[in-house]
Amino acid sequence: MEYTALHTLLWLQTAFVLTTQEFVKLSVTPKITAECGKEVTLNCNVSSSRHGLSIKHMNWSQNNRSLCSLDKEGNITHHKHTLSHFHCEYKHGTQLSLIFKRVQPLESGDYRCKLQSNQGAKHQYTRVELQECCGIVEGVWTGDRATCTFKNIYPDGDVHWFHGSHNLSDGSVRQHTTKHVDEGGWLTIRSYLEQNSSTVPYNCSLKSSTSGRYITSTLVQNPELQARSISQEHTHPGRNGVGSPGPLWTYLCISILLAVTLK
Ligand SMILES: *[C@@H]1O[C@H](CO)[C@@H](O)[C@H](O)[C@H]1NC(C)=O
Ligand SMILES: *[C@@H]1O[C@H](CO)[C@@H](O)[C@H](O)[C@H]1NC(C)=O
Ligand SMILES: *[C@@H]1O[C@H](CO)[C@@H](O)[C@H](O)[C@H]1NC(C)=O
Ligand SMILES: *[C@@H]1O[C@H](CO)[C@@H](O)[C@H](O)[C@H]1NC(C)=O
Ligand SMILES: *[C@@H]1O[C@H](CO)[C@@H](O)[C@H](O)[C@H]1NC(C)=O
Ligand SMILES: *[C@@H]1O[C@H](CO)[C@@H](O)[C@H](O)[C@H]1NC(C)=O
Ligand SMILES: *[C@@H]1O[C@H](CO)[C@@H](O)[C@H](O)[C@H]1NC(C)=O
Repeated sequence: MEYTALHTLLWLQTAFVLTTQEFVKLSVTPKITAECGKEVTLNCNVSSSRHGLSIKHMNWSQNNRSLCSLDKEGNITHHKHTLSHFHCEYKHGTQLSLIFKRVQPLESGDYRCKLQSNQGAKHQYTRVELQECCGIVEGVWTGDRATCTFKNIYPDGDVHWFHGSHNLSDGSVRQHTTKHVDEGGWLTIRSYLEQNSSTVPYNCSLKSSTSGRYITSTLVQNPELQARSISQEHTHPGRNGVGSPGPLWTYLCISILLAVTLK
């Protein structure tokens, strides 16, 4: 007798929990694509079809580690253990937001919003993805070779060097490329060419591994040869013209001289 009463009680309790959980609802955006270097906000909205909802606890977490939590007084506690600057805000008595100043590659992934309330517990996930980032590129002439460095790249890319319209990745010129990942997941790619003698600048380009597009590029030129080519252009203004300008200039000068002296 006592046994069945206990069972009934347990059954009722379970049924009660199951039904009350239907009233309270958490809304999150299932997937957010973060733009490089831009702030991103993850909202977690609480609603209930019943009156008298009171929040006991809420939190945003990643990989089972709480980033911030809200108590029943509405006070937020931040748990600092990630690399990024983030903070949480609680608004309108129903919305807990997790705000990142700038999402780093290693922080992309699933974030969980969890609620404990007098009408039951709920949780929902938001997936944060980071857009392709082309970061910053720098091309310099170091020693006797063209070097370029791409920083804050995500997710990955291949370096292709061009010389005018010539794609140097065909193996005609040796190139060395190294990759390094920092603690936030950003990639630094450095590349140099084993060629140093042209007055035409080398184009160092990064092709994204995900989109297959060239996302960033820079021109690198030997400063000495550049200076020499500029001074040559000044002393020989006709150098880039069609044909060989030498005899033409001589012919013109002689003609003018003749014209003047014959007058
Ligand atoms: C949460 O509520 C705010 C307004 O209070 C709204 O702007 C936002 O879109 C909502 N977010 C979700 C994920 O429902
Ligand atoms: C999350 O952490 C809690 C204790 O903090 C633990 O009981 C639970 O098993 C963990 N879950 C996962 C998926 O690691
Ligand atoms: C807050 O998040 C952590 C990590 O997921 C979890 O272990 C903990 O139970 C959460 N707290 C509450 C009261 O939900
Ligand atoms: C919670 O916030 C209230 C004011 O909003 C403050 O008076 C109280 O001391 C805070 N409690 C804790 C535990 O920080
Ligand atoms: C340059 O050559 C590489 C390697 O062969 C190739 O993957 C790339 O698509 C080429 N780029 C262009 C713009 O032709
Ligand atoms: C190019 O570099 C080689 C060594 O790598 C050097 O011997 C040569 O003088 C350089 N040429 C020019 C034009 O800088
Ligand atoms: C370098 O070459 C790439 C691929 O052909 C091109 O997309 C890019 O505009 C060039 N960059 C510069 C600075 O000329």
